[in-house]
Parts: sequence; structure tokens; C-alpha cells
Amino acid sequence: MLSYATTPQEVFPSGPHFSKTGKSRSATVYIGGKPPYRDGPIIFPAGRHRRNIIAIAVLARSLSPCSACLSVIGVIDMRPSSVSYQLAAFLIAAARRNTPLSLPSATIPTATLYFIKTFKSSLAMSHNILITGASGYLGGTLLNRLGEANLPPYGKLFALIRTDDQAEKAKKLYGAEPLRFDAYNEDAVLEALRSHHITVVYHLIDPRTEVSQLAFIKALGEVKKQTGSEVHFLHTTGAKIFSSHADAPTDRPLLDTDPELYHIQKSQKPSNEFFQAAVATNNLVIEQAEVHGVQAYIFAPCIVYGQGEGFGNVISIQTVAVVRAAKGAGRVYRTDQGQPTWPVCHVYDNTTLYISLLRAILNGAKPDHGRNGYYLASSGSVVWDDLYSAIAKSLKQRGVIGDDTVATADKAALEEMGKALGCPASFVPIMVGGKCTFVAERANKKLGWQAKYSPEHVLENADAEVELILKNLK
Ligand SMILES: NC(=O)c1ccc[n+]([C@@H]2O[C@H](COP(=O)([O-])OP(=O)(O)OC[C@H]3O[C@@H](n4cnc5c(N)ncnc54)[C@H](OP(=O)(O)O)[C@@H]3O)[C@@H](O)[C@H]2O)c1
Repeated sequence: MLSYATTPQEVFPSGPHFSKTGKSRSATVYIGGKPPYRDGPIIFPAGRHRRNIIAIAVLARSLSPCSACLSVIGVIDMRPSSVSYQLAAFLIAAARRNTPLSLPSATIPTATLYFIKTFKSSLAMSHNILITGASGYLGGTLLNRLGEANLPPYGKLFALIRTDDQAEKAKKLYGAEPLRFDAYNEDAVLEALRSHHITVVYHLIDPRTEVSQLAFIKALGEVKKQTGSEVHFLHTTGAKIFSSHADAPTDRPLLDTDPELYHIQKSQKPSNEFFQAAVATNNLVIEQAEVHGVQAYIFAPCIVYGQGEGFGNVISIQTVAVVRAAKGAGRVYRTDQGQPTWPVCHVYDNTTLYISLLRAILNGAKPDHGRNGYYLASSGSVVWDDLYSAIAKSLKQRGVIGDDTVATADKAALEEMGKALGCPASFVPIMVGGKCTFVAERANKKLGWQAKYSPEHVLENADAEVELILKNLK
């Protein structure tokens, strides 16, 4: 049965701020918090219901892809029973969820009913989000920053965890409802997503093991059938999968907006099994998402650095590997010839990109996805040798190594580095070097994302990074 909302609280349960702005019955609706707002209120004169309603519909539609602009929309007539008040409220609510709007030329009450219906179903479609890797470096930082991100409204936030301690922290620190299930078991994943109506999954567990990604994609496809809602899967891959290690082209800049990127990945033939699986997973995510009607995003972190903000792991991967290898081998060694470069990104910037994408998803802005859904999180690249030198300098100052010049690794050095890294000598160059000409363009162009830290910051910050790593190395 359709029912009319009669109070602001019913229409905006999250608590918009209403204020009377004129004598008579004019009012301004502030959505999502208190004034002052960037764009200022827009006030529609009282007593001109039909004209105002049309104006509001046009406004709501034009603003819907950008929730920041939607923070203020003026609505006339605060009488709870007023048709225009209700209609406007529903229009706004629908627009915030990017429900397509059209105003029937029928009578106002008919239009009102139409939008009440739209509003009700759009409410039902509000996204529930699952973040995996909650105790990890990237996932923990993401969860920590979600609270302050001022995201468009969504349903519930869930975090995949594996221990009681993680469950308690996810709940207490981030207000995320902890979920514990086997991410590698299709039935368990389906049950979790279906029973909690999860429509957005951020996968931050493992860039290779396609079984887990596939289980989530299939389950999202089922949720879509069940709810009719759009469903989204973000797969965290890595810049390595677009590098020399994975047989990606490195003779030119490889843009993340390259329309051929899917085909480039399809044609990569890495000799190493790890990268065969990782490249195949990227492709599989795109292809299976198409089969199951899921919007997929291939999110590529690069050399991420800076202190993780979560309750679990606070250090990254590649800077850690350089330090670990240097400790083991007694010096920093390069493993490549020819001054190769690699993209870098502060963990804060990596996180704001995860969030920018989530914001676009929640706004219903249909961010680029599938074969056009590659997002490199990076402000630019540095030469490995510069990073090695900066790390070597810091390690020497701290008495960890005796020589701060960088040498080229010979067989014996590779053996020592491999021991320290827990991998064969042949895998060491993959852990601490390589060439990656991947360039971030999509997030800047399409999401308006901008990195706070320049690529050189990783060099300037090397001493702090080394200190953080040494403190947290296990
Ligand atoms: N950090 C980087 O610089 C970087 C760069 C490129 C790509 N990536 C990729 O991004 C992803 C996240 O990286 P990260 O640095 O955040 O890694 P991390 O700190 O090692 O975190 C990994 C997370 O995945 C969870 N996890 C592992 N296996 C799981 C399983 N079977 N079921 C459920 N959860 C599981 C871990 O939970 P527990 O704590 O319970 O083990 C942890 O929360 C990884 O796939 C990584 O390869 C990272």
C-alpha cells in the first residue's frame, strides 16, 4: 500500500535541516547537514506549485550525478499535507539515488503518487556495501576514512573479517557490521550477499585467486536478480599486472584510459605463473561481470606508501620488500638495468580514489566500468634507483646497513635477498623492481580525483617510511 510521508523526518530519516526562510509558507530544505552550503539555498516562491514542481524536477535531474551540488535544494510550502512539498521531497530523494525522473503531464496528485512509488522503490535499492580486507593495509585505511567521506546515503556497511578481535574493531571503530564467511566458498559468499542484500563489494584480498572474485560476481548477479538493483564489484589488482613482469607493454606510456587495455591484457603472456593467474583474473572479472550483469572496476594500486590507518596491518608491500631485502643482504641492491620507473601513490590518495569511485557508484553516476573500468591510483612515477637511494640513506643513518650506495645485485646478493623475502632468488626482481609505464588518467578525468601528494613525496618521505617499516616488520 502506498502511503504519503507527512513529516520531514519520514522523508529524510537521516535528518535534513529545515528552516523557514520567508513569511508565508516558503521554506528551504537543506539536505544532509546544516548550512552554510557551497551553493547556497535555492528558494521557490510559495503558491506556484505546478511551476515549482517542474523547476524542482529539472533541477533535481540536472544535479543528480553530483551529490555535492545536491546538498541544497529549495522547496516551497511546509504544510505537511501539501502536494508540492511531498512531491518535491520525493523528487529530491529520487534524484539523490539517480532514479530517472520524468514528470507526467497528468494532474499533480497523479504525479505525486508516481513519485511516491519511485521513492519507495529507490529506497529499497539503496546500496549495502561490503569491504573485504578490513584488517589489511589498504582496506583498513579505507574503512578509517569512510566515516569522514560524507558519502551519499547508503544502506549498511559490512566488513569481511576472520577473527573475533577484528569483528569487534570493525564494529567499534568504523561502525561496520562484521561478517565472517569463507570468501573462497561460492555458497557461503552467495548466502552472505543475498541475506544482507549487498550490492557493492570492494575486494581487497588477493589479486590472483580468481575463485574468490568469481564467487562474489556470481553472488552479486543473484542479488541483482533478487532486488533489481544495480550491483558493483571492485577488484583490487596491482600495477605489477601492467608491468614488464606481466608482459605488459613498457615501450610507451600505458594509459589506464587506453580503450584497448582489455585487449592488451588479453594478449599479455607472462612467463611467470603468478602473473599468468593475476592477468587472467583481471580479464575474468571483466568477462564474468558482463555475463552476470555486474558493473566491474579494476582498481590498480602501485607502490603505495605511508602509514596505514586501520586496526591491522599498517605497512605496505614494495617499500617493505626493499627494506627487508636490504636488511637480509646488508645493502640496497638494484635488480634492473636502465633506470626503470614505477608509479607511486600515498596511501591517503589511494584511499581517496577508492572513495571517489564509491561516491560515484552511490550517486548512480555510472562510473566507467567493465572493459573501460581500469583505475590506476597514482600521482606519477619515480625511478627505482632514486627510491633505493633514499631508502639506503635512511637505513644507513639508522645503522641497519653500512653502505648507502646502491649496487647491482649479483647471484649471491639475489640469494640473500630471496632468503630475506621468503622467495626464490629468481622472484626477487619481481618483489623489488621492474618497469611499469602505467599512467593514471581515468580517475582525474572522469571522477575529478586529485592526488594530494606528488610522486617525489615518496622520496622526501623515505626516512619516515623506513622508520615505520622497521617498527612494524614482523
Ligand atoms: N599495498 C600495496 O602497495 C598494494 C599494491 C598493489 C596491490 N595490492 C593488493 O591490494 C590488496 C590489499 O593489499 P594490502 O596491502 O591491504 O594487503 P594486506 O595488508 O596484506 O591485507 C590483506 C587483507 O586480506 C585479508 N585476507 C587475506 N586472505 C583472506 C581470506 N582468505 N579471506 C578473507 N580475508 C583475507 C587479510 O585478512 P587477515 O588480516 O585476517 O589476514 C587482510 O585484511 C592485495 O590483494 C594486494 O596484493 C596492494
